[in-house]
Amino acid sequence: MHAAGNADVSECLKVVVGVAGGIAAYKAAHVVRGFKELGHDVRVVPTESALNFVGAATFEALSGNPVSTTVFDAVDEVQHVRVGQEADLVVVVPATADFMARAAHGRADDLLTATLLVATCPVVLAPAMHTEMWNHPATRDNVAILRRHGTIVLDPAHGRLTGKDTGPGRLPEPEQIVSLALAAVENPRHFRRDFEGVRFMITAGGTREAIDPVRFIGNHSSGRQGFALAEMAAQRGALVTVVAGHTDQLPTPLGANVVKVDSTLEMAEAAHEPSKLADVCIFAAAVADFRPASTAGAKMKKGVADDALSNIQLVENPDILATTVERRKAGEIPATTTMVGFAAETGDETTTPLELAKQKIVRKGCDLLMCNDVSGGQTFGATDNVGWLLSLDGEQWDVPRGSKFSVAGSILDAVSELRQEPQPAE
Ligand code: PMT
Repeated sequence: MHAAGNADVSECLKVVVGVAGGIAAYKAAHVVRGFKELGHDVRVVPTESALNFVGAATFEALSGNPVSTTVFDAVDEVQHVRVGQEADLVVVVPATADFMARAAHGRADDLLTATLLVATCPVVLAPAMHTEMWNHPATRDNVAILRRHGTIVLDPAHGRLTGKDTGPGRLPEPEQIVSLALAAVENPRHFRRDFEGVRFMITAGGTREAIDPVRFIGNHSSGRQGFALAEMAAQRGALVTVVAGHTDQLPTPLGANVVKVDSTLEMAEAAHEPSKLADVCIFAAAVADFRPASTAGAKMKKGVADDALSNIQLVENPDILATTVERRKAGEIPATTTMVGFAAETGDETTTPLELAKQKIVRKGCDLLMCNDVSGGQTFGATDNVGWLLSLDGEQWDVPRGSKFSVAGSILDAVSELRQEPQPAE
């Protein structure tokens, strides 16, 4: 199976932020700031019409670089090819229907389209337009052409548009655009559309088990890894349902349907139906193994006669992953459904995290298991991850350190390959 070698995006990258003429152009300013805060060198290339929405001075001040729109500026420096040639990443925010039509057909009538024609680095378009325009056959064709040419066209968010209307066509949040664009630099192959129409159920975040109205048993999961999996699967064409416990105020994963839950019992219930319908189930949530046998109706007091607070009785929670695998064995879930587990391991004096994960995949019976080393507080809440992928039949791959989007991409590559292998006859 795959052996990914991903690019490092912690170095200073030359990022071109293109801006086309749409209301969402103001959000490009936040995207520029996002890249700058991560230490990248940003050059903004707006179209003429983008400057009707945001002035060049804003982009110059935020990027620290001059702004031009036309191929007739800095002609002595051959700017119309140099900007694209030197770029490590080109991101267009927002990519309007008109801009995508021009880009799809290889027009080079302004500096931005000329830059796209020259660039050999990853090119990421973040579309924003009204739903009717996004759904129009002309736009669908242009998106298909661009994707065929290797341009990464993000699926837009679903939500409130400029007028009173709501639907697909909203620009993703600036932090989502920055993360996904950098993931494209880490490994552009992670954005191929190999899950078109494939249904995913993904658990994410941490569960909370109530002790009383103010206290709970919980953990440090931020939901970042689960949400990154959801966003990457959706950008690869999948239909994604995320059953999410507590997630550090992250934006809703782009392109996914999210069901919010609190406790393990709620997560188990919410995952039940979607896992029956899914082609792929991924269990990235950090789930509490135990919960208090009962939840006090009022805040428990310390130091009272029976001191219930220091004697909390625990009962075991259902294991959502293991029971879903059991349901597949029992025929309730199709045998072709791929099951992916996670293992958050610290290891101990006698056993390494990897050895524990190898025991865990056999115990849980899932097809693939991503093992994270969480010793010393790493991984939980972090923006990056590293570890190993194991398969039930004993294969093992290193997953290189990278953003959680890049790790998600490696896991999805392994899922994609597994789904292409001939299935055993039932
Ligand atoms: O959320 P982040 O801050 O991004 O951090 C990511 C992460 C470390 C939480 C994530 O990558 C991870 O490792 N998730 C699994 C954590 C965990 O609970 O591991 P575990 O070894 O206890 O459980 C093994 C597997 O069984 C997991 O797939 C878990 O989702 C599943 N499980 C566990 C217990 C339970 N009752 N039900 C389950 O489904």
